[in-house]
Amino acid sequence: MEYVTLTFLIFGVTYSLWRLLFKKNHAPFIPIPKQSIPHLLEHINIADNDVVYDLGCGDARILRSLAKKYPKAKFVGIEKAIFPFLLAKMSTVRMKNVLIKRKNFFKYPISDATIIITYLFPSVMDTLLPKLKNELHNAKLFSFDFPFSEKEHETIYVLKEREKKLGSKIFVYRFE
Ligand SMILES: C[S@@+](CC[C@H](N)C(=O)[O-])C[C@H]1O[C@@H](n2cnc3c(N)ncnc32)[C@H](O)[C@@H]1O
Repeated sequence: MEYVTLTFLIFGVTYSLWRLLFKKNHAPFIPIPKQSIPHLLEHINIADNDVVYDLGCGDARILRSLAKKYPKAKFVGIEKAIFPFLLAKMSTVRMKNVLIKRKNFFKYPISDATIIITYLFPSVMDTLLPKLKNELHNAKLFSFDFPFSEKEHETIYVLKEREKKLGSKIFVYRFE
């Protein structure tokens, strides 16, 4: 039994490292620190008719907080990896305004989005930009920690208590 567990563990760690080092456009499952979520809640305003996407929603912790505060808006989480997808699905099963999809966000149409949340990697943000420019109209994007290198942000919010730690900045972008 111990050998089986150890084999799975070694395989899991090696696979994650391989993806991280060699797979372009991959952001691993690193959940946003819980202390950063109130920072987003403080600065985001969601209307009843908004459609909010978290691209790479992980365990859906951001969506759960937003969906509780704004029960009339619609929330969609897109997650490719099976483990965080299952966590997201299970933890939102009773939330009627949250939909979790196991999809690759590069291939999933998001033209109905009015608000996008991301916590990805710089290279992923840049690869995603052409798709966002094509599909988004009159939408706002809130990116934790990582800006686009070729698009000017509208605002940046810095959480002073977490400066230099993960989840300390939110870059806000507008797509016309
Ligand atoms: C840094 S984690 C952030 C998770 C969550 N948004 C949060 O803030 O807690 C990035 C997530 O994006 C997912 N992801 C990366 N590339 C993806 C893709 N192309 N399509 C869907 N999900 C993706 C990863 O599996 C991972 O769970």
